[in-house]
Parts: sequence; structure tokens; C-alpha cells
Amino acid sequence: MSMNPDTLIITDVAPRDGLQNQQVAVPTEAKLELIRLLHAAGVASVEATSFVSPKAVPQMADAAELMEHVHRELPGLRASALVPNLKGLQRAQAAGVREVAVVLSATETMNLKNINMGLAQATEVCEETLLAARKMGLRTRAYVAVAFDCPFEGPTAPDTVLRLAAAMHRAGADEIVIADTIGSAAPGRVKTHFEALRQAVPVDQLAAHFHDTRGLAAANAWAAIEAGVRRLDASVGGIGGCPFAPGAAGNAATEDLVLMAEGSGLATQISLPGLLQAVAYAEARLGMNLGGRSIKWLRRRYAGPEAAPART
Ligand code: HMG
Ligand code: MG
Repeated sequence: MSMNPDTLIITDVAPRDGLQNQQVAVPTEAKLELIRLLHAAGVASVEATSFVSPKAVPQMADAAELMEHVHRELPGLRASALVPNLKGLQRAQAAGVREVAVVLSATETMNLKNINMGLAQATEVCEETLLAARKMGLRTRAYVAVAFDCPFEGPTAPDTVLRLAAAMHRAGADEIVIADTIGSAAPGRVKTHFEALRQAVPVDQLAAHFHDTRGLAAANAWAAIEAGVRRLDASVGGIGGCPFAPGAAGNAATEDLVLMAEGSGLATQISLPGLLQAVAYAEARLGMNLGGRSIKWLRRRYAGPEAAPART
């Protein structure tokens, strides 16, 4: 798997990470429309949903129905689904999913809170799910969550993250997604973390997943890029947060990362005005103000033909 160093591959996780935690029920049609708008904006990869227990995450109960629509309408889109175990994998396969993501947290307590198993069992379940997914011919991602700090156990030892990333790589994950679940990382740590991780996993197969709790997600994304990473997760409008990780805000906003990439000579194929339409749609559906750090400037910049020239 080789990659152009001048290209950034963004997976928009808003439909899963962003919507899993919403207080109001979001109809399947609205999820589909958000995915359509992302696709129309040029986003080539989305995490569309999760096949998890509907008791644990009621918002994702319509995973199969949503995926069937996505495949029918947008056959060219890379649309992955998070699966916590073999049951989730089987449900995903039955719905025609071609890419799945498993989630392994780096601490005992975070695994227990998130998927009701300890670290050892979670590692085994992720490995067996990855192996089974590969036998089915699916593309696979493996998250290593709380890779910087755990809301229950404090700072995560970089060696633990390395060991788990290597285990997921050995189990055949095509992509290892290093996740800053509660958004507590800072660029210096990110750079050293990823420089170490590159020794365990080929950098082409590493991805970074930041949450913007402290406003540093874009800076952290840039540090990962400086360490050679070219795959980033983001969520349009910065929608999101993990229901089982107290204090976690939404993801790095897709529009912030695209703006950063454009200004830095990295191609994304994603249109900023297209993303603004997706943000506006999500705001209307969810009844809340959304948008990353750059949203006010972007709205002025792309407000229409009368918009002020983009100088500052
Ligand atoms: P459990 O209760 O321990 O599971 O939950 P169980 O195996 O004892 O089964 C209990 C019931 O759930 C049974 O049904 C199973 O069939 C069913 P019953 O007999 O009671 O009718 N079940 C399932 N149903 C649907 N789909 C499944 C499934 N598995 C079992 N896949 C379980 C364990 C893992 C299922 C549960 O804890 C769960 O679903 N957790 C998911 C939590 C989640 O979605 N968290 C958010 C995603 S992770 C995240 O956001 C972080 C990330 O963004 C990266 C970052 O930022 O760090 C990825
Ligand atoms: Mg997340």
C-alpha cells in the first residue's frame, strides 16, 4: 500500500462518532443525507455507522438499513462500520459492508466501560474479529483508543500503545487508528508517539483520530503529518464525542483539516463550500451550532459572490 506524500486521506467519522452521542433521535434518512452531502463534497471515505448493541448505543440501531441505502446510492464511497465483536461483524457482513473497524482501548477500565471486557479479552476479541473479517475479504481498521490519556486511568504508557498497535497489525488490520479519545494530546507528544509507532507499523498504515476538547486537534493533526502520517479521521462540523468517555468533545473538524491541508500544499480532493453545506444541514437537523475553529472565516469566505476577498 503506497501513498502519495502530498495527499491527505480523510475519513469523515461524523455519521458514526458524531451521531452516536446525540440526545435527539436522528432518522436514518437524515444520516443518509449527511453522507450524501459528504460524498458530494468530495469526501471519499466515511465511517457510516456501528454494529454495536442497540442497548449500549440506541442511535446506531438502524445500522443495517442505513448501510443498505449507502451501498445502493453511493457505490463508489468507502463506507466503513465499527464492529465491537464477531456478532457485530456478522451483522455488518449481512448488510453488505466492505470495511469494518474494531476498537481496542489501551487501558483496562476504558475497555470495560466501552465494550464490557477487560484489556486481555478485548485484545483477543479484536484479533479474532480482524481475522474473521479478513477471511470475509473485508478491509479492516483497528482503533487503539485512549492512546494518550484515559479518563479513568490517566496517562497511557507509549509502550502499551506500541504493543497494541503491533498486535493489531499482526492480526492483519489494514489501518491502525491511533485515537486521542478525550482530546488531551498536544503536538509535541503526538510527534514523539507517532515517530515511535512508525517503528512498529508501516507509516502508510497508521491513521490519527483526534478529538478537539482543548482546541488542539488541528495542531495535533499537523504534528502527526510531520511524523509522516497521511491518514486522518475528522468529523464535519466537529460533531461528536464518545458516550463512554467522560469529557470527550467532538472530533477534529473536517473543514479545519481541509483548510490546513490546502494552505500547506497537501491535496484532499474535498471542497470547503461542499463541507459548509454539510455543516449547515447537520446544524438544522440537530438544532445546534456546529463548526470547527475556522467556521466563521469559512462562512465569510464562501458566503456567495458578494463575499469579501479571502485575505485574512
Ligand atoms: P455485553 O452486554 O457485554 O454483550 O456488551 P454480551 O455479549 O453479553 O451480549 C448482550 C446482548 O447484546 C445480547 O443480546 C447480544 O446478542 C447482544 P440479548 O441476548 O441480551 O438479547 N449483542 C449485540 N447486539 C448487536 N450488535 C452487537 C452485539 N454484541 C452483542 N455487535 C458490547 C458488549 C460490545 C456488545 C457492548 O458493550 C457494545 O455494543 N458496546 C459498543 C460501545 C460503543 O459503540 N462505543 C462507542 C464507539 S467507540 C468510540 O467512540 C471511540 C472511537 O471513536 C475512537 C476514540 O475516539 O477513541 C472509535
Ligand atoms: Mg472517537
